[in-house]
Amino acid sequence: MNDMTPTSAERAEKLEGMGCKRKRVEDVRFTQGKGNYVDDLKLPGMLYGDLVRSPHGHARVKKIDTTKAAAVPGVVAVLTAEVLKTVNLAWMPTLAGDVQMVLADGKVLFQNQEVAFVVAESREAAADAVELVEVEYEALPVNVDPLKAMTDGAPMIREDLKDKPDGAHGKRKHYNHVFSWAAGDKAATDAAFAKADVTIREFIVYPRVHPCPLETCQCVASFDKIRGELTLWGTFQAPHVIRTVGSLISKIPEHKIHVIAPDIGGGFGNKVGAYPGYICSIVASIVTGRPVKWVEDRIENLSTTAFARDFHMDMEIAATKDGKVTAMRCYTIADHGAFDACANATKWPAGLFSIISGSYDFPAAYCLVDGVYTNKAPGGVAYRCSFRVTEAAYCIERAMDIMAQKLGMDAAEFRLKNLIRREQFPYTSAFGWQYDSGDYHTAMNKAMESVDYKKLRAEQKAKREAFKRGETREVMGIGVAFFTEIVGAGPSRACDILGIAMFDSAEIRIHPTGSGICRLGTKSQGQGHETTYAQIIATELGLPADNIMVEEGNTDTAPYGLGTYGSRSTPVSGAATAMACRKIKAKAQMIAAYMLEVHDDDLEWDVDRFRVRGNPERFKTMTELAWAAYHEVPPGMEPGLEAINYYDPPNFTFPFGAYICVVDVDVDTGETKVRRFYALDDCGTRINPMIIEGQIHGGLTEAFGIAMGQEIHYDDDGNVTTASLMDYFLPTAVETPHWETDWTTTPSPHHPIGAKGVGESPNVGGVPCFSNAVNDAFAFLGSTHIQMPHDHWRTWTAAEKLGLHG
Ligand code: CDP
Repeated sequence: MNDMTPTSAERAEKLEGMGCKRKRVEDVRFTQGKGNYVDDLKLPGMLYGDLVRSPHGHARVKKIDTTKAAAVPGVVAVLTAEVLKTVNLAWMPTLAGDVQMVLADGKVLFQNQEVAFVVAESREAAADAVELVEVEYEALPVNVDPLKAMTDGAPMIREDLKDKPDGAHGKRKHYNHVFSWAAGDKAATDAAFAKADVTIREFIVYPRVHPCPLETCQCVASFDKIRGELTLWGTFQAPHVIRTVGSLISKIPEHKIHVIAPDIGGGFGNKVGAYPGYICSIVASIVTGRPVKWVEDRIENLSTTAFARDFHMDMEIAATKDGKVTAMRCYTIADHGAFDACANATKWPAGLFSIISGSYDFPAAYCLVDGVYTNKAPGGVAYRCSFRVTEAAYCIERAMDIMAQKLGMDAAEFRLKNLIRREQFPYTSAFGWQYDSGDYHTAMNKAMESVDYKKLRAEQKAKREAFKRGETREVMGIGVAFFTEIVGAGPSRACDILGIAMFDSAEIRIHPTGSGICRLGTKSQGQGHETTYAQIIATELGLPADNIMVEEGNTDTAPYGLGTYGSRSTPVSGAATAMACRKIKAKAQMIAAYMLEVHDDDLEWDVDRFRVRGNPERFKTMTELAWAAYHEVPPGMEPGLEAINYYDPPNFTFPFGAYICVVDVDVDTGETKVRRFYALDDCGTRINPMIIEGQIHGGLTEAFGIAMGQEIHYDDDGNVTTASLMDYFLPTAVETPHWETDWTTTPSPHHPIGAKGVGESPNVGGVPCFSNAVNDAFAFLGSTHIQMPHDHWRTWTAAEKLGLHG
């Protein structure tokens, strides 16, 4: 060793492994307009599909006449349900075990439902012909109110289920009922409520919202009649699932289906499932023998593909006089729209909603969810959350504030009194989830200190007095939210989708020169996977991250996996990556021992090399070992250096966070200014702090949009009134507040690198924090709960109801 020899720390830094704020490698192409999205794909002879959609929310389809449309120059085919029936594809299975019409079969059940599919030589010709498909409708009574769905005489949405007493999840109690699902201990909970000192009850609605990715859903289907093979390019968050389900539906053998998800411009849960547009494109390609492209427009995306939330929650908490929670109970009506196309693990029809006891030590808890059909679009996806966790976090965090208000306690103090303590982990909740690790009090106290919580409350007190004296028309709100997420679906014993267990995978191949490729069953939609998986490998194998190529989204080359949603990539495929690396490292160690003529156990790992214990001058670097793996393996050993791991996690991971928001609300205009937003996140071991910060910024911006203005709204006739970005609030840089981010690190004890997911945390924690802030602004005037979204009009209306306008 001389002075010029880099130290271990210097060598580690050069690798740009875990903990490094490595710049996103994918941005080189994205920032130069060189991304490769589905709509960039142009194949010889490609046709374009476009959908005829229902103007009615509920109507019988008496007749469809396609004569005029078929006569438009350039139109090649017009598909209807009758055509699809000839190939047995008029209906398709949903991920939730229900069935869904591909094209209207006798009835339409929601506005903009798919009725016919026109295929033409150009997009323009297809669009022209869509206008000329003549459909005779007979309007039927509409119901868009989930609370009325199970009343006597409510319009029957699903005539196909009329005589079916059972659904995919057991007995149905009404013709518009989808399922009942309960969790927790009802008797113990009822008993705790019966002897409670203090109880609160509030009806809390999480409105219907939409993930609204910048790139809409789209695909290109190309069927090769000679080979009998289908290639499907699409905006798929879960390509392998699309291949398997596609094979089961179409009966095309799975090895003859090639699913490719190229670059994706945001998914947020919107691109998990299968849509009628995909099926129509496939059938159209089979019928015409030519590739067919289908691209949704914005209105179609917002009004037909995969909504989120629409949970209507009757929430109760019981507590002692001195503020210790003793029980919680929640009855929820979940509006699933016309078909149950929710994306949940099969055993969990209401997702992981039973995380609703949140971060608090509830001795008893119970929840019951009824899913219902209405005349709205299907979906119910996990919009940047793990299967209904966002709904749960919103509900418990609002309810905790309402209880604190009733007890006359400070919202943060009340939380500190009830948060699960560090020494209680691993903690089993009253619903049976085992939270892997947490240090909630440290996080909450750090958040409070960082914003100088006491000073903020003092300022608020002074402002409230000034308001009462008539010196200001502004009220100040401080929102506190503490959330626990459950991500990393999932352990196969708990999670499957249509019987496919929810493991995930990584396959790593190290080339002779020490560079390599890693292929995974996940699929980035902007999360930076090409950057971060390489960082895990860099640290695990001691090879520079720049030398590792990460590839996802091609079912022919990637190992089988369940895709990316619900922040599962890091907890599951991140773990698979580390485990595959460890197999490679074990082989490299044997090669090193052979080359250095020592026993395996005499070697120790040092950043990027194996060195002889007690004799560090004798070593073999990983790059040297990669070369040796192809040239100099010990006798009897297979050459090559690669490994694959299918990782079935032993548990979910439970990231958490403490968020604090300060707002000023003008009671005369309803205008709400977000003065501060502080977000502390704990996602265990941090792979790339810069990417994490970006994930938090993005998720908080979505949370801001949801809490302050988003709603997919239907009028009583079933018209969706928010189907364009003129009416659906998508925040831009102009409205978006400044974010202050912070962290603590509590590794997951069961994850190979201690990492938990992070992508969806800010959406989960952000929404209740904003809502608590707006609600807190009015709490001193006797208001307990103002429903989201907190747009100016609704906030003004709340002020009006409180008599603030004279
Ligand atoms: O499944 P999805 O990619 O949406 O979510 P995730 O696993 O939470 O990861 C989102 C991004 O944050 C990925 O690029 C991860 O590698 C990164 N991340 C990180 O750097 N450290 C963590 N502990 C968790 C995620």
